[in-house]
Amino acid sequence: MRQTLIMGNWKMNGTRAESQALAKAIVAGLDAGDQGIAVCVPFVYLSDVLSIIESTPVALGAQNVADQEKGAYTGEISATMLKDCGCTYALVGHSERRTYYGDTDTSVAARFCQAQKQGVTPVLCIGETLEEREQDKTFSVIDQQLNAVIDAAGVEALANAVIAYEPVWAIGTGKTATAEQAQEVHQYIREGLAKQNADVAENVQILYGGSMKPENAGELLSMNDIDGGLIGGASLDAESFLSIYRSA
Ligand code: 13P
Repeated sequence: MRQTLIMGNWKMNGTRAESQALAKAIVAGLDAGDQGIAVCVPFVYLSDVLSIIESTPVALGAQNVADQEKGAYTGEISATMLKDCGCTYALVGHSERRTYYGDTDTSVAARFCQAQKQGVTPVLCIGETLEEREQDKTFSVIDQQLNAVIDAAGVEALANAVIAYEPVWAIGTGKTATAEQAQEVHQYIREGLAKQNADVAENVQILYGGSMKPENAGELLSMNDIDGGLIGGASLDAESFLSIYRSA
């Protein structure tokens, strides 16, 4: 049985005080036995948030990680630093990174490897644009983004990773993939992995991301191959985020 994982991605939002308040409100809504919940916080607030979620069920994640180990890379944050700051997870290859900051399949694979080397679990984000979907390229885009990582790290590396399918056209647009559209891609990903390693395919958590909200989370999360959510906008409100968590 795969454990469900509900992960918030706060993106570039909030002040220190707001981040602390949000973390406190999330913690306040949880019970001791809860698990499978995480927040990906802006780098500068990782430590502030850690001090609130330490010894609670909420795990800490970063939104990116450098593709190099250390050295003269001004402005970058290494996997060692993230580990040191208490991160369990790091997003790699988020579509906003790929679109606005030039992250390529090659650099995403390098980030993935750096995170794993330090024991930070990479959350590999993949997904097609609207144009690619309309040209029937969804599966080939998924293959290309996933294979870049498998070629660099080996399929077994996905045993210690999370995959997030985030159709670019559904991110921040209010347009959610239907449960069937999402399930189709999640199943495609899992079946493709199963051809290479059945255990990895069976156990890897595949999250859906893209306008997931309390109103649609239940249906999406009821699908066989959807093991959780990566939530942007709705994760900035503790009540919405907790409501999604409860529907899982
Ligand atoms: P939204 O939930 O705001 O669409 O963002 C999804 C996302 O990009 C999570 O990483």
